[in-house]
Amino acid sequence: MTQRLQGKRALITGSSRGIGRATALAMAEEGADIAIHYHRQADLAHQVADEIRQMGRDVLVVAANLEDLTDVDRMFDQIQERWNALDIFMANAAATAFKPLSEVKPYHVERTYRLIVQSLIHSVQRAVPLMGERGGRILTMSGHGTPYTIPLYATIGSAKGAVETITRYLAYELGPKQITCNTIAPGVVETDSARFYMGERYPQFEQAVSRETPLGRLGTPKDVADVALFLASDAARFITGQIIRVDGGLTITSGPFEVTKGLMTEA
Ligand SMILES: NC(=O)c1ccc[n+]([C@@H]2O[C@H](COP(=O)([O-])OP(=O)(O)OC[C@H]3O[C@@H](n4cnc5c(N)ncnc54)[C@H](OP(=O)(O)O)[C@@H]3O)[C@@H](O)[C@H]2O)c1
Repeated sequence: MTQRLQGKRALITGSSRGIGRATALAMAEEGADIAIHYHRQADLAHQVADEIRQMGRDVLVVAANLEDLTDVDRMFDQIQERWNALDIFMANAAATAFKPLSEVKPYHVERTYRLIVQSLIHSVQRAVPLMGERGGRILTMSGHGTPYTIPLYATIGSAKGAVETITRYLAYELGPKQITCNTIAPGVVETDSARFYMGERYPQFEQAVSRETPLGRLGTPKDVADVALFLASDAARFITGQIIRVDGGLTITSGPFEVTKGLMTEA
């Protein structure tokens, strides 16, 4: 059976958990060798790596605090040493402090922007030479809190706004090298970070978001991973500079209009 990413080498940051983990597994199933990156959760990263090894792929596990550019360099040095090549780079890792702008401290802003914005630019500078003449795929992650406002989400939402813009510029700059650059923008996905964001109110949050979502549920990491897989594949060779929403239609709705819902069936 043909595998869509046979012979490709992919680095996915933040692949110890959540969307990154699901994407690493999905890409490995389609034939790619995978560099798993993590920050603190070494055990989880090694579990994903074991699953991928059992599929017969080559796996590299790299630890890096992406707030620190020397760690970013160390991560790419390891990839260079092992493969001296890279076909797919997915900048997925993210973290922030959920606070209103009136309370956010300079170090909260600095840390979020170093992790999400500065590390993206530095990583791309390291990834592109490894893609060489073959071209490649760069994927970045945004979310619902960038085009829309979400409580306590301003710091990361604005950093992701920068990611969307940087990705568009990268698509323009790197097009001549046959490197496509696209952003995936999920709605709400069932992961640790969604649970952490809502704390004990997560069940009510899940219900409310599902009600506002035309497809009637939260996203799963696999929903997002399958789109990342498509964008990394040859089938997406002419898509670049785009923001692809994976949100069950959440962004096309306009708030709590459930009182009108019966109109659809009565008409
Ligand atoms: N979940 C959602 O609802 C949702 C919605 C829209 C967009 N997104 C975006 O999708 C991406 C993945 O989200 P997720 O929910 O799957 O994430 P997650 O489950 O919270 O996992 C976050 C990942 O980032 C890594 N990480 C955290 N701080 C780091 C640092 N300083 N340096 C390096 N790595 C670090 C973590 O590593 P360790 O495990 O080792 O700590 C982990 O692998 C993010 O960009 C997020 O903004 C998520």
